[in-house]
Amino acid sequence: MRDLETTGPEHQEGPATGTGSTRPPLFRSLSAKLLALAVAFVLFGVAFIFMPSIAGFRVTWLKNRLAMAEVASLAVEAAPGQKLSDNLRKELLRAAGVRVVAIKRGGARQLVLHEDMPLMAERRYDLRNLHWAQAILDAFDTLTHGGRRIITVVDRPPNVEGEFIELALDERPLFRALVNHSLLILKYSLALSLLVALLLFAAIHFTLIRPIRRLSSAMVRFGEDPEDTARVIRPSGRCDELGIAERELARMQQQTVSLLKQKNRLAALGLAVSKIAHELRNMLGAAQMISDRLAMVDDPTVKKFAPKLITSLDRAIDFCVGTLKYGRAQEPPPRRQTVLLRPLVHEVLESLPASGVEVRLFNDVPDGLAADADADQLHRILFNLTRNAHEALVGMRSHETVREIRVSAWRDGAVVTIAVADNGPGLPPKARAHLFEAFTGSARRGGTGLGLSIAQELARAHGGDVVLAPHDGPGTIFHVIIPDRAIELDTERRKRAGHSASP
Ligand SMILES: Nc1ncnc2c1ncn2[C@@H]1O[C@H](COP(=O)(O)OP(=O)(O)OP(=O)(O)O)[C@@H](O)[C@H]1O
Ligand SMILES: [Mg+2]
Repeated sequence: MRDLETTGPEHQEGPATGTGSTRPPLFRSLSAKLLALAVAFVLFGVAFIFMPSIAGFRVTWLKNRLAMAEVASLAVEAAPGQKLSDNLRKELLRAAGVRVVAIKRGGARQLVLHEDMPLMAERRYDLRNLHWAQAILDAFDTLTHGGRRIITVVDRPPNVEGEFIELALDERPLFRALVNHSLLILKYSLALSLLVALLLFAAIHFTLIRPIRRLSSAMVRFGEDPEDTARVIRPSGRCDELGIAERELARMQQQTVSLLKQKNRLAALGLAVSKIAHELRNMLGAAQMISDRLAMVDDPTVKKFAPKLITSLDRAIDFCVGTLKYGRAQEPPPRRQTVLLRPLVHEVLESLPASGVEVRLFNDVPDGLAADADADQLHRILFNLTRNAHEALVGMRSHETVREIRVSAWRDGAVVTIAVADNGPGLPPKARAHLFEAFTGSARRGGTGLGLSIAQELARAHGGDVVLAPHDGPGTIFHVIIPDRAIELDTERRKRAGHSASP
């Protein structure tokens, strides 16, 4: 298995600097937690083995004693007249490890072997039909009472005839044997649990923790310099969940790198645009002064065109100033007022560049139709659309068609629509596929692909839009939709009340 790889000089494990550390404190690390959990679970399992084990050991020990006592009782029964010397009786009791042996046969209980002194047993255990849970409780009972008691034990005789065999004995030897057995089991259990925990830990460490740690350190390193392509992780090719995480992380990091690069390019472009706007404003300022002087020349043709030239230059200077003020990405908010559309469209059509090809321009906007818009921005929208149409018509090969651009407009309630139509070649597929997308929508040589996207952005700032209108036949139609501003009823009422109150 190959682990995650990164290129670059920082591909070393170890404490990271900067945004964060790749290694948490040892006791808080995933490895420490896993180790503790593994030990706890194994000990939990061992506890389940320990309880039945000591219970079984105790019952077996007692049954051995019963068997030995039974053998001793047989020796008594074999003696003539069942009489034994005191010494032999004591010897038998000592050898069997008991103090009293009684057997019940044929309904009569017979004291087979006993000491001289009468005994008081503190606890009686019956091994006949013993339930396993009771056996466990009895084992703990023996362990907790420390072997200071005399107990009696009853069971069926292991080998001879009889209803039961009962014996009294000191609990101490049983207690000692049980403690030794428990300690042995605990010792082995602890060793086993440590061994299992270590094996488990090693397995998890190599299959999970190490790859996770490398994944997290790769993230931290990337976070320190997300523009550095060399810090993007290289997936190891594993097929498991970690492999998926690696691949997804690599994809996200690639995306981040390219987004940041794009952002930087745009920032540089923004700076360039600002510089251009700045210099252009200065140059236009000079041109404005010259055109002001031109307006003073006493020539009817100059007098006719000079004001238009001045308006155009004013508009260009305003635009440059606006660009400088609001930066590259943002257009200034529209300064809306009532704009008469027919004269505005007339001005737009008049400012279309001259070309050797005849293009007929029609201003079909009804007199008196007004829109609630920023005049300069609406001029730019319409100029972009008519210029596109003009460029498309001029570039047309056909000599039979009479080239036409027609601008019409109408009001529908609070919405004004201006249609810019031409009978040119229609939108090329590339332009159609990236319509209104900045930089990508251009399908003509020398085009920047900004005109339509700027027009749409400006219309949207008015709460409207620029859309491609579906139609049959040749050419292209764009609709500019400009809704009126929403009126705040309270303000309007107050305004009207003020008017009616004034004399
Ligand atoms: N009326 C039209 N008829 C045919 N094609 C058009 C028309 N209007 C736009 N297009 C196509 O859409 C493309 C995108 O237009 P857009 O105004 O966004 O960019 P551009 O004209 O190429 O460059 P610029 O940023 O200088 O305006 C144009 O290149 C042109 O191919
Ligand atoms: Mg254009």
